[in-house]
Amino acid sequence: MKELKIFGVVAFFSLLTYYLVEPYAHHAMHAKFDAQGNEIKIESHGFVYDGTTEAAASAVAISDLEYKIGKEKDAKLKASLEKKLTLAKDVQAKKATFWKEVATIGQLTGNAKAGEAAFASCTGCHNGLNMNMGGVIPPNLDHAGALYDENYLIALLKDPAMASNVDHKYADTMLHPMGSIKGTMSHQQIADVVTYLKEKKAAEPTAKTAFMEACVRCHAMRYDKVTQLGDIPKTKENIKTGHDIDAMKYAQKVAEEQATLAGYMGKLPPDLSMIIRARSEHFMETFIEDPQTQLPGTSMPRVGLSEAGYEKVHEYLMDIGDPSKPARDMAGPWVLGFFFIFTILAYLWKSHQWKDLH
Ligand code: HEC
Ligand code: HEC
Repeated sequence: MKELKIFGVVAFFSLLTYYLVEPYAHHAMHAKFDAQGNEIKIESHGFVYDGTTEAAASAVAISDLEYKIGKEKDAKLKASLEKKLTLAKDVQAKKATFWKEVATIGQLTGNAKAGEAAFASCTGCHNGLNMNMGGVIPPNLDHAGALYDENYLIALLKDPAMASNVDHKYADTMLHPMGSIKGTMSHQQIADVVTYLKEKKAAEPTAKTAFMEACVRCHAMRYDKVTQLGDIPKTKENIKTGHDIDAMKYAQKVAEEQATLAGYMGKLPPDLSMIIRARSEHFMETFIEDPQTQLPGTSMPRVGLSEAGYEKVHEYLMDIGDPSKPARDMAGPWVLGFFFIFTILAYLWKSHQWKDLH
């Protein structure tokens, strides 16, 4: 019976570690706290974009500043904190007004036909030519209606930097690369274009297409032979020289694009081939919904994916980063079952061998 007991103990502690200790340690290590030491809960909002995460961030920033002002003895430092508090309250008010306006536009009835005409102003940049515009290549919008949330699209056309929650980056000199459309469209026109996108660009993308439209302008996927310029083209080595001139030319183009992108973002966005193994489901979901919640101050803009759009992107990240997961999930119970049966057989065999000796 000893063997069965040992098996039981090992299985018990393995399961305990797997289901309780590891997730708890993970949670404790990644928890975020405000100035008073209260934990800040980062929760998914189901890919709804209505200013909720912004309002929560403002509330924390303001209460942190008020707490610090209350404890600060130095008059000069106190004055500087008070200035920051005024700014934080301004930001809070500005964002609240912005999202209220977005909600108002959301109530208008858009006209897809008028939207199609107005969409002509978008194709100057969104033209599929893979040309960098102000730091980054404007994405293909073929499936925009399916990928992006409707409210987010309204916000984007109203004010791109506010929608992406990177307005803090553009407070002074730098302009958002799509910033030129800010203020050029009436509320009705915004509703029209969004209706057009939701009706005419709503074909379901494949998992890879979703990533290509939503993320690839910034993130390469080395394991799928994808760069910021898209799929790496097939080229051939010259038999006589051993050089693959086309591959070299392509590599140079990628390097140039990455340099421009790094200038725009402050750093080169990471390759995402293995990200799905490095980050938890909860992190990925909340980060994509609003990068600022997980990495305050990050330059990655919010992308505005709908829940269905996120699921597609996630599927692609799994396909590339963890292709054997389905097989592994299937194998798990079989392996456990095997050990269980093996233990019983080992025990029976042992009893059989020893029975004459006892
Ligand atoms: C001046 C060039 C320009 C114009 C005009 C323009 N865009 Fe963009 N657009 C961009 C760039 C550049 C990006 C990528 C920005 C980024 O990732 O920081 C972008 C991103 C987007 C995205 C992706 C959203 C996101 O946050 O990931 C959508 C959707 C979009 N544009 C729709 C439109 C529509 C609809 C119009 C016309 C009403 C339009 N754009 C006009 C340059 C432009
Ligand atoms: C306009 C550029 C841009 C776009 C578009 C973009 N990202 Fe990012 N992303 C960045 C930058 C820059 C960073 C690095 C952030 C940092 O370290 O502050 C980043 C970081 C990340 C990280 C790593 C976070 C971490 O530290 O673990 C993940 C995951 C990620 N992006 C996922 C995505 C996905 C998925 C998409 C498409 C839905 C996407 N990004 C679209 C610019 C972008």
